Amino acid sequence: MATRHFPDQPAAEEHVESKLSVDVRARGMSPAERAWRCALRAAGFQVAPVSIPVHPSQLLSPGGDQRAAEAAYRNFIAAEPENRMALDGLAFLLQHRGAVGEVLQVRRQRYAVEARWLGVPDEEIDSVVSFLAASLGDGKAPLVPPAAYVEKLFDEFSTTYDRRLLMDLKYRGPALLREAVSLALGDDAKDLDVLDLGCGTGLVGAELRSLARRQTGVDLSSAMLALARGRGVYDELQQAEIVRFLLDTAERFDLIVAGDVLNYVGELSPVFTGIARVLRPGGHCAITLELGEDADYRLREMRRYQHAGEYVRRTAADAGLALRLFDEVELRHQHDEPVRAWRCVWRHSDRSQLVRHSRHLAHRITADWLSQRFSRDTDNDQMRACRQGRPSHLVGSRFSRYQ
Ligand SMILES: C[S@@+](CC[C@H](N)C(=O)[O-])C[C@H]1O[C@@H](n2cnc3c(N)ncnc32)[C@H](O)[C@@H]1O
Repeated sequence: MATRHFPDQPAAEEHVESKLSVDVRARGMSPAERAWRCALRAAGFQVAPVSIPVHPSQLLSPGGDQRAAEAAYRNFIAAEPENRMALDGLAFLLQHRGAVGEVLQVRRQRYAVEARWLGVPDEEIDSVVSFLAASLGDGKAPLVPPAAYVEKLFDEFSTTYDRRLLMDLKYRGPALLREAVSLALGDDAKDLDVLDLGCGTGLVGAELRSLARRQTGVDLSSAMLALARGRGVYDELQQAEIVRFLLDTAERFDLIVAGDVLNYVGELSPVFTGIARVLRPGGHCAITLELGEDADYRLREMRRYQHAGEYVRRTAADAGLALRLFDEVELRHQHDEPVRAWRCVWRHSDRSQLVRHSRHLAHRITADWLSQRFSRDTDNDQMRACRQGRPSHLVGSRFSRYQ
């Protein structure tokens, strides 16, 4: 059965939603759910006595007592505080009644449940809740999501990732990047030292392997990295956050790619500054980014960021990258609609003078960025180094070779 998204509810990552609904259905009916169904029927609603999903929009029918339905949900939640279906249902009814403050509160409770379910560590739950709330306009969006959220999300998603992306969502990122690299580099597209940022299960790496002399993949998610290793297209895999990797690594690359990754980043300047740092002179960088129009970047309800083209071009230029290709593509589908994206290629240019002027600003932004990404990080040497304008790679490595 297809997963239904509740109107005006958090439109979570599709795969998480489907996993949640399978979870709820597989669980069978608990005494609390049985009591909830009885209470709804007593309040005048038509609800099957067996475990058939009840969409809360069914509870808007005339003749039913909506306050009683709300109370039934509250009793359900009191008995099962981690029940996501009940929290979603209550939020839906509150939203319909226009009880804005209460909706936000219930949604935050729901986000905390979701974060625990994903396995986010306790000390990161608050920052994950704030991030998820901001995706629906409740609070200011952070510069970047908490790393723990991205890591656990993709750990969870890893086993179904290839099938979902390639079959269901018609993902074209790897082929689009390969084509962009060929267009920009021509005959020079061979024997390259390639860095694949957010390599995931290795779909992009597989596409680029024939151009590579040596290929390195970096990702936050150990489960995605395990699948990338199985693909056998990387010489080296690192479990790391991409900006930390870019600031710390002593390696240099001819080609850096990021396919469908930087949607998990809002403020891009630390990424571009890092890319400019590790590209060899004349090296290239090719990425995709979801297309946005109405702000430099905006966190959307699908919990990813969209970026405006002008912002992307300006931020990359500030980091000393020279534009080679910038076009609009259909990256994949979502809810059967094509997702529009930017496909971009830059060449490393020798604009060190300009970059020096903006270095202080870049350091400051990077420090704020890292502190939002790793909210409870006790070891802040790297952030301190950034704030003071010291090269952060002198303060010790924070990533590990993936075994
Ligand atoms: C949508 S997947 C794309 C994977 C791969 N590039 C592809 O095209 O199939 C995004 C991947 O980026 C990783 N990721 C997102 N933000 C990251 C970050 N800041 N540092 C490292 N990995 C990140 C996620 O763990 C995930 O594996």
